[in-house]
This record gives sequence, C-alpha cells and structure tokens, in this order.
Amino acid sequence: MSAHERRFAGKVVVITGGARGQGRSHALALAREGADVALLDVASGDLDHPPFRVATTADLSETASLVEKAGGRALPLVCDVRSEEQLNEAIDRTVATFGGIDHVIANAGVESLFVEPWKLSKQDWDAVIAINLTGVWLTCKTAIPPLIERGGGSIVLVSSGAALRPLSFNVDYTASKYGVIGVGLTLANDLGAHGIRVNVVCPGAIDSPMLDAVAEANGITRETFLRQFEGSNLLVPGVLAAEESTTPAILWLLSDEARFLTGVVLPVDAGSWVRTVARRRR
Ligand SMILES: NC(=O)c1ccc[n+]([C@@H]2O[C@H](COP(=O)([O-])OP(=O)(O)OC[C@H]3O[C@@H](n4cnc5c(N)ncnc54)[C@H](O)[C@@H]3O)[C@@H](O)[C@H]2O)c1
Repeated sequence: MSAHERRFAGKVVVITGGARGQGRSHALALAREGADVALLDVASGDLDHPPFRVATTADLSETASLVEKAGGRALPLVCDVRSEEQLNEAIDRTVATFGGIDHVIANAGVESLFVEPWKLSKQDWDAVIAINLTGVWLTCKTAIPPLIERGGGSIVLVSSGAALRPLSFNVDYTASKYGVIGVGLTLANDLGAHGIRVNVVCPGAIDSPMLDAVAEANGITRETFLRQFEGSNLLVPGVLAAEESTTPAILWLLSDEARFLTGVVLPVDAGSWVRTVARRRR
C-alpha cells in the first residue's frame, strides 16, 4: 500500500456506533490505512425506546477482530452515548491505551417509529433525541479536550438525508438529524482556532442493519420498506447503496486532504437530495 493510501498511519480514531453497519465499514477502512480505532457501541441487542434492535456484544467483538485483521489496533468499548459518565470512561480508556485522539466519527444513531407526529409518545421522542442529538453533542463534549491537547484533528458528525428533506411520519428522527447539523456548524466555528475541523455527512438510504431494524420495529417487511426507495436516487435507482458507500467521503473529510474544509454539510446520497421532478422536453 502506498503512503497516499495510508493516510491514517499513527492516528487514533474514535467511532461511536462502531459495532456494525456503516460504523464497522469506516473502522475497517481506517485500519487498512494504518489507524488505531476505538469502537464505542451500546451493544445491548435491544432498546426499549425506541423499540429498536441495536448491535450486540458479538457484533462489537467481530468488528474488533476484523479491525485487527485489517492491520489496526482495536479497542472495543461498550458505551451508551446517552451517558456522559460512560463516554468519559471510554474516552479516558482510549487515551490511556493509544496515547491520544486525532479523529472522531459521531455515527451512533437509531431510527424510530413511523407515526403521526401527534401520536408519537414523549418517551420515544426523548429517547431518539437523547441518542441521535444529545449523544452526538456528548460524544464531542468528551472527546474534544484530548483533540485540543493533541494540537488539532478533525471530526465528522453523521446526520442524514432526513436533515435536508424531512421524512414524513418521522418527526423525532428528522428533528434529531437537523439538530446534528446545528451542532456541527457551531463546533466548526468554536474549534477552528484549535486546529480542529468539523464537518457533517448526510447519508442517503443505505442498506445497513438499521433498515432491517426499522422495518421490524414498524411491523413491515424489509421488501415493503425497500419499495419506498425505488427511484429515490440518481445513480443507483431501485437499488440501495451498500453500507460501505459513505466510507470514502468520511475518510476524506477526516484526512489532511480536506484540510481547508470545515463547516461543510455533505450529502452522500447518490443524488437523492438534488433529485427533482423529471420534465418532458416535448
Ligand atoms: N442506513 C441508512 O439508511 C441511514 C441513512 C441516513 C443516516 N444514517 C445514519 O448513519 C448512522 C449509522 O447508521 P447505520 O446505517 O450504520 O445503522 P446501524 O443500525 O447498522 O448502526 C448504528 C450503530 O449505532 C449503535 N447505537 C445505537 N444506539 C446507540 C447508543 N445509545 N450508544 C452507542 N451506540 C448506539 C448501534 O448499536 C449500531 O451499531 C446513524 O447515525 C444513522 O442515523 C443511516
């Protein structure tokens, strides 16, 4: 592998929601490019609110061993991003094990129930906001001091296409993901002086375990759920993007190649957001 392909040699990266799905894909790609990776995940199998099947400890261990096979050191840590205490412990363990932190991917998130906004329970609303929005802020809050101590670094926050075009009957998820953009753009302002860049990625529909979990939570089949995405993007119509699809953009934003970019909100969605109504020319 050339030096160009090992952009993260000697770097330490924290990934929340790293046990499966897109987080796992980022971890493996980073390890192949020389990074050591702390994988933080709730890894509880299930959540009560929202009722959602999350990763298991077996998923977390499997990702850690795949990272090691890919050439990086892995630190798998059970950590719920809703808990400041657990995040503090995880960040301390990461610094103690790897000597510091250079990059953060705040990726942990859950989908929720598809219900009329006036029928959504406050308990489910609170739970989704706690994970997807407060969890992203708490991840940054706890990880930023080691980045400042290191003298710089970069952060990518994972929002969603739902923060560019709202998802109907999904007010909690949509609101949480708009909020992530607010956190990212504020942090970009406040961290520039410390040499820390902060950018936000908005994935389109991605074929990760999240899709199975959200179909199950809403009592619909995977096939019914997937039909909603037919023709939703410009590049792979009728087909969902694989869970590795967002990884190259995220690694690029983290890397020095993007050293003049901060405060960017980047759709990585095969053109779902820009897609417009097709007009007949004649
Ligand atoms: N899959 C999509 O279509 C899609 C689209 C847009 C945005 N996203 C976002 O991308 C990110 C990654 O999702 P994915 O597609 O890989 O889904 P996924 O469900 O496979 O992965 C999410 C990970 O987050 C973990 N997690 C959930 N709650 C947590 C908590 N409280 N603390 C710590 N970890 C927790 C899960 O265990 C899981 O490993 C999420 O933020 C999601 O909202 C996904």
